[in-house]
Parts: sequence; C-alpha cells; structure tokens
Amino acid sequence: MKLAYQRPRLFEPLTVRGLTLKNRAVISPMCQHSAERGIAGAWHLVHLGKFALGGAGLIFVESTAVAQSARIGVRDLGLWSDEQIAPFKAIVDFVHENGAAIGVQLAHAGRKAGSQALWEGGRALTVEQLQETGEPWRRVAPSAIAAGPEWSVPEELSIDEIAATRRMFVDAAERAERAGFDVLELHFGHGYLVASFLSPHSNHREDEYGGSRENCMRLGLEIAADVRAAWPEEKPLFVRISAVDGTEDGWDLEDSIVFARELKAIGVDVIDCSSGGLSDETRNMNVPRGLGFQVPFSERIRREANVMTQAVGVILDGQQAESILQDGKADLIAIGRQALYDPYWPHHAAHALGHDDGFEDWPIQHGPWLAKRAPLMKKLKFTDNSVRSLTGSGHQLGETGQ
Ligand SMILES: Cc1cc2nc3c(=O)[nH]c(=O)nc-3n(C[C@H](O)[C@H](O)[C@H](O)COP(=O)(O)O)c2cc1C
Repeated sequence: MKLAYQRPRLFEPLTVRGLTLKNRAVISPMCQHSAERGIAGAWHLVHLGKFALGGAGLIFVESTAVAQSARIGVRDLGLWSDEQIAPFKAIVDFVHENGAAIGVQLAHAGRKAGSQALWEGGRALTVEQLQETGEPWRRVAPSAIAAGPEWSVPEELSIDEIAATRRMFVDAAERAERAGFDVLELHFGHGYLVASFLSPHSNHREDEYGGSRENCMRLGLEIAADVRAAWPEEKPLFVRISAVDGTEDGWDLEDSIVFARELKAIGVDVIDCSSGGLSDETRNMNVPRGLGFQVPFSERIRREANVMTQAVGVILDGQQAESILQDGKADLIAIGRQALYDPYWPHHAAHALGHDDGFEDWPIQHGPWLAKRAPLMKKLKFTDNSVRSLTGSGHQLGETGQ
C-alpha cells in the first residue's frame, strides 16, 4: 500500500492575520550597504528578487532607517522620505509577481549609527568621518554611554525627542504601506536604539524610560503600539529582539519572555529571535555559536509567551529546519548567510525533503525544463538534481549516460 504523501511542515502555508505565506522559509534581513540617499536600486531588486525566484515564502528587506541621522551605515536603505517609496514598490511588485511575500525591517541605529560595511572593515565611523559625509548623523541613546571604545558617546534622548522618535517609526510604517509591503518588522535587537533602552548596561535613566524592566520596555512597547495602530489591521507585524543582549547580568531570556508577552498583547504577531550586539566588547560572549544556536530562545519564547516565533541563526539545511518546526520550536525559519550561498535554498530544501519533485513550485520559466531534465539526472545517477556529486563521486561523464 502506498503511504499518503505528508507535506513537510516547512512547506505548509502559514496564515498570519490576512496574509497567507506559501511556506515557512523566510529570508532574514541583510544589510547590503548599497543604497544612494536611502533609495533602493537595481542591486536591491536583483538581490531580493532572486530570493522570490528561489522559493522563499517571505523575504525581508534589510534594516531600513526611519531617519537619515539614524542609519547603521552610510549606504543604508531608508523610509524617511517619500522619494524612497516608489523604488521599493517596484521590488515589492516583482516579488509579488513571483509568488512570495515581502516585508521590510524598520530600524533606528541609536548609539550605533554610522559604521562601515564589513568589506570596509565593519568598524564604527569616527565623528570626523561622519562629518566628512556631509550628511546628518546623530548617535542617540537612553543614556550617554558609548557602545564600545571605538564609538563616540551618544546624546541622551530627551522626553520630547523620544516622542519624536516614536513618530519616525509611524511615518516610516505609513510609507511602507504605500510601497505595498506585506509585513513590517521592527528591529529591536542587536544593540540599536530600542535594544539600548532594554539593557541595564546601556540604560541608566531615572525617569519613566529607565530603571525597572517595565520602564526599560516602555519605548519598545510604545513604538510597537503606535506602529500597530498605523499599520493595516490585516497585515502582520513582527519584532526582532536580541533574546539575550550578550552581556553578563544584562537583558536576558526571562526579560525577553515578559517583553514578548507584552508585545503580543499589543498586537505583534511574530517574535523574531536573534541575540547579542549590545556593545563591541560583549557581542555574543555568552552565546556560543553553533548549529541553530538561537533556536532555544525561540522555543522558550514561543512556549512561555504563547506567541509565534521565527528562528534564525546557523540553520543550514531543510532537514534541520524541518526538525525545528516539527519539534514546535518555531513557526518560521529565517535563513541568512546560507541564502547568500544558495539563493535557491527553499527549492533545494524542498527536494531534499522529498517535496516538489515535479518542480511545480519553481518559476514557470524554469520548472518545466528542470522537470524534463530530472529523468536524465536520474539516469546519470545524480540523485539530488545537482552535479555537486561529480567531484569525488567517481562519475565519468560519457560513461554513466549510455
Ligand atoms: C550580510 C548580512 C547583513 C545583515 N543585516 C542584518 C539586518 O539588516 N538586520 C538584522 O536584523 N540582521 C541582519 N543580519 C543578521 C541576519 O539577519 C541573521 O540574523 C544572521 O546572519 C544569522 O543567521 P544566519 O546564520 O542564517 O546567517 C545580517 C547578516 C548578514 C550576513
């Protein structure tokens, strides 16, 4: 008797509010440092568009600044100005035409505004270098504490400036809606502005935005509530957090569980569970990197805050992703560097899990050709439809094909 086909969980659709994702494979936000005046260009269209062709259910645009002065790097994308909307819309349309959903990650870099791309060294820019750009830059934080020895001391935000910062997120969210994005993600991790309010290491305030956990969470909760009110009811809102800030005695997983409960109560749909990045010295000192190293954060937040989660961090293949989902440790799987290595990761994961043997999920321009090629690959004994096994497999072209 033939067993009924069981679709892998990675390829089961997921409905969040009014959006149904075709699968659980998400492309994690990844800074490209390739924009002019915060405007998306051909690089972004190809970079993000290829992931739509690659089969992802949801693709995140990199960290996108809510203010020019609050960029992570000189060539970040932005949504601080209306001129940035139309170029995003072109990318959104392409991704939609090719069957994927697309979200944008909104960020305020806080005291970590102004750093180099990794290929330039990845260091903090000096105050002089920032001035040389001729552009507005401002390092701000809950308290006047630098992010590390390389960083200048930030300005402490006043209560009025905090209110203005909340408005920046709302304005950017409204522009994201006009660009047609399906999902918004608020970047509250990696030591940027909201993360710096959460951690007792960077937040020494004595007013209602510092001191107790409740006060440290206030800005993040206010921004989430403001954005939730401005962002259409039927569209999902995600929040990326550093589940632990990477320091001793800092913001920890227990804090994140409480924060996730509060975010959920406000209407945040998915907690994207990253970690670390609060400051230069600490980075991820107490979070050893390994396969799926942040999955335990996702698992506990999902279970104890009863909220959907996205797992991220060294998730490399379909089987690993499938196990995380099957074990109830996450609802979505975000892929970062592995998707840079293999933009067709979701399609390849599907084949590895025995799904979509007919290449029906592939772009129509490609799938039928690959389906036609499949019997030939089988005849040539290339079981995974690639020729990786050519090296060291003993295959000799011309021998096996006859
Ligand atoms: C090139 C690059 C740029 C990144 N930019 C962002 C970003 O804009 N926002 C963010 O939250 N994380 C960013 N990250 C972190 C990734 O989203 C992801 O969390 C991290 O790489 C771990 O996942 P991985 O092991 O699958 O790469 C970036 C990572 C890379 C490799």
